[in-house]
Amino acid sequence: MRFFIDTADLEEIKAANDLGVLDGVTTNPSLVAKIVQDPENFTYEDFKAHIAKICDIVDGPVSAEVTTLLAEEMIVQGEDLAAIHDNVVVKCPLTLEGLKAMHHLSANGIRINATLVFSPTQAILAAKAGASYVSPFVGRLDDISTEGMALVEQIVDIYDNYRFPTEVLVASIRHPQHVVDAALIGADVATIPFKVIGQLLKHPLTDTGLERFMKDAAVIKKG
Ligand code: E4P
Repeated sequence: MRFFIDTADLEEIKAANDLGVLDGVTTNPSLVAKIVQDPENFTYEDFKAHIAKICDIVDGPVSAEVTTLLAEEMIVQGEDLAAIHDNVVVKCPLTLEGLKAMHHLSANGIRINATLVFSPTQAILAAKAGASYVSPFVGRLDDISTEGMALVEQIVDIYDNYRFPTEVLVASIRHPQHVVDAALIGADVATIPFKVIGQLLKHPLTDTGLERFMKDAAVIKKG
């Protein structure tokens, strides 16, 4: 299972990369908006420069999302974003216009992450349009009392049935149990917020065990 970090924050990306567990990055316009210090003066060129900085830190797929609703404009922007770095994956929403753009871009060798996916039918369409990744948003489904992981299970089964090469990238992860469930189901990738990556390693027995070992280590004299 590959781990992507779900953030546009360069410090978080560097810190997670230093742990040696990071395989890629996902961003979206809301995550980018969070790190912009001067929103009045942040341009599209600044956005592209920020994606380039992420690509310099992590040697793996970096999702950059289109910021327009029309297929023709998504295609132009997708080509532009893909030109930033070989590792850029263009994120398109699973709408009618998004689907057209995905089909066109993927046919031209640009990797696509189909985003805002909330149903198995949307996931089938993403695969048929040639998306490299499909992103079911589990947390947002849980938020409306629908089991997000049930969708991941359905997509993994459907893709297995037809050997679709599209990878299942579990998104909108909110806590460690989402990561465990995604791994048990056999999802290809989990994109995880920085805070949750930290939570993955925490266990109270590790903390109390280490405290005891450090106390007892006092008997071991340094030479
Ligand atoms: C990543 O690809 C998604 O955009 C992200 O996981 C959405 O997360 P959220 O539902 O917590 O905003």
